[in-house]
Amino acid sequence: MSDDQTGILRDAVPLFSKPAPALAEALTAYRKVLDSVHPLKGKHRAGLPQDVKRLSLALTAERGPGPQTNYLANPANLSAYLYYFLPWNIYRLSRLLTGLNFDMKDGDSLLDLGCGPLTLAQALWLARPHLRERRLRLVCVDQTGQAMRAGLALFEALTGEAGRNWTIDIVQAPAHKAPGGPFQVVAAANALNELARGRGEEGHHAMERMAEMLTGRMAHNAQLLLVEPGTRLGGKLLSRLREMLMEEGLSPLAPCTHAEPCPMLAPRWRSWCHFVFPSDGAPEWLVNLTRVSGLDKDRASLSFMHMSADEPHHEDTSSRVVSHRFTLPSGLGAYACDHTGLRLLTFPAAPRGMVSGALLEAGLPVPKQRDAKTGTWLTPIRDGRGDAGR
Ligand SMILES: C[S@@+](CC[C@H](N)C(=O)[O-])C[C@H]1O[C@@H](n2cnc3c(N)ncnc32)[C@H](O)[C@@H]1O
Repeated sequence: MSDDQTGILRDAVPLFSKPAPALAEALTAYRKVLDSVHPLKGKHRAGLPQDVKRLSLALTAERGPGPQTNYLANPANLSAYLYYFLPWNIYRLSRLLTGLNFDMKDGDSLLDLGCGPLTLAQALWLARPHLRERRLRLVCVDQTGQAMRAGLALFEALTGEAGRNWTIDIVQAPAHKAPGGPFQVVAAANALNELARGRGEEGHHAMERMAEMLTGRMAHNAQLLLVEPGTRLGGKLLSRLREMLMEEGLSPLAPCTHAEPCPMLAPRWRSWCHFVFPSDGAPEWLVNLTRVSGLDKDRASLSFMHMSADEPHHEDTSSRVVSHRFTLPSGLGAYACDHTGLRLLTFPAAPRGMVSGALLEAGLPVPKQRDAKTGTWLTPIRDGRGDAGR
């Protein structure tokens, strides 16, 4: 670190690297898998764009009661979910799982709460090919049997003979009645918001119950993986839940590079913890359906929390980029989160890899000056990788 309060960037590792060709090809071919398992008949085929749009509004509304209980038991909603939400969620989860330090051992078991049409199981299969050889048990729980049964047929069509290495148990039940485990991985994708509403509880109490429900099913060295849409609702929910999960003894692995309180919960901070990446390599058929449904997905976004029942070691030199890059009167900036809180990193030109979600290794000065508007630490940095930067 130089003593003039300028930090030195030593490495920037992207979280969402471009999808591997095999993943992009599998997603392109996924339309055929859908057509063979859940063919759309006349009325549902013609009405698909409107059904997608309507369900999208119900699922993303910040206020109100949210979608109806068992909404996936309705045939129009199920078709819309399978042809639009499922492949986009597989895409987003796959991009995350590829970049995340996530692994499972032979014989491990995973609990997926609010599994829907087995989205996470399919994403794991596509994004982590080395796991296909391992004997894994996936216990998938959802209140709606139709979604799980369609998901199981899709999983079998996607994975063929090789998929038999994984035992998939589907359990139709409300999440709080899920099997007790213990499991080596407990996960929930795009479901927490609904799981919290499901028992008619609100606020702090609902969060506490959720934290107990998750941690109570984890083995002593287990991992927890929670993923939500990149909306304010999803991000805030995960940041608040993180605090309670830490009280229950869990430690964050990612995106946090520290176990300090989440600085994004400060009232002054207007944004929330989420990551945005270009939807490169998304299949054309899905991009077309998105367009005709009147929705826009040039970029994908998500919030997530990967935690461990063990206590991981965090380096003080690590931080996470939590915004896109933006222009400032004198150069460029991006926000990063580390053990000191949020920093506004400033630089004259964009260092290579300085993108949303990237893990930075940098010698950053002890912060002294705060940005008047946001209260974040002001930290000018320079690229210490020589010509490699840019
Ligand atoms: C938006 S979908 C997510 C499905 C899947 N995990 C994905 O990422 O595509 C939410 C799922 O949670 C389920 N769900 C909602 N509340 C539930 C509850 N209390 N218990 C079990 N499942 C629930 C719904 O039936 C639905 O399948």
